[in-house]
Amino acid sequence: MKSPPLSEEVYNYILDHYVPDSVLLNELLKETETLNIPLIQISPEQGKFLYLICKMIKAKNALEIGTLTGYSGIHIASGLTEGGKLITVEKIKDHGEIAKKYFAKSGLSGKTEVVISPALEYMKKLTSENKNFDFIFIDADKTSYPDYFNEALNLSHSGTVITFDNMLKDGRVVLDPGDDADLKAVQLTNKIISQNQAVESLLIPVGDGITLCVVK
Ligand SMILES: C[S@@+](CC[C@H](N)C(=O)[O-])C[C@H]1O[C@@H](n2cnc3c(N)ncnc32)[C@H](O)[C@@H]1O
Repeated sequence: MKSPPLSEEVYNYILDHYVPDSVLLNELLKETETLNIPLIQISPEQGKFLYLICKMIKAKNALEIGTLTGYSGIHIASGLTEGGKLITVEKIKDHGEIAKKYFAKSGLSGKTEVVISPALEYMKKLTSENKNFDFIFIDADKTSYPDYFNEALNLSHSGTVITFDNMLKDGRVVLDPGDDADLKAVQLTNKIISQNQAVESLLIPVGDGITLCVVK
């Protein structure tokens, strides 16, 4: 055992001490559920983790791939510096509309832009416009993760932090993927990132695993 097991009790201890309950985020989750949109957002402590990274690196411009209804976006945008902006890309319009509503309720409308588009296409457009970001969070279709990593590198500068969710795949990353295309893609992404010389990186066991890279 390399670290203490995260029992329900220990997990709740962390949340009780470090992740205060938010009425607004709870309302967002309730509405997401009521609309039959899958509750596949990041966990509360992952939200706090992303928020803290943005604060630590004094991120101003952030890019998120996979908005859903704005749960992670609220954490990221809240961590950006004064005048900062999060561009968050989502392919389903209805998801984006709910996100916009909750960004507004959080007072983050001026700090957020929801783009409805297939993500890879939009990342390529940003690259062609020579855009770059201080912080990038990838949390969409897993089979595109290797492509998202390449595009994220194109949208980075030295010091950019790139993060990927679900990199443990509920602990299944150590298993034979069989015909599970998502698992196969996550395993490949872990291999590609960990061997890439342009970044320094670590897979951090928070939530379903966040791989964190800093561009050299
Ligand atoms: C896991 S959810 C994102 C959760 C969100 N980051 C959060 O924690 O609140 C994945 C989202 O990515 C969107 N998505 C999937 N494939 C996409 C693609 N190719 N382009 C843009 N969005 C995509 C899905 O519609 C879904 O809303």
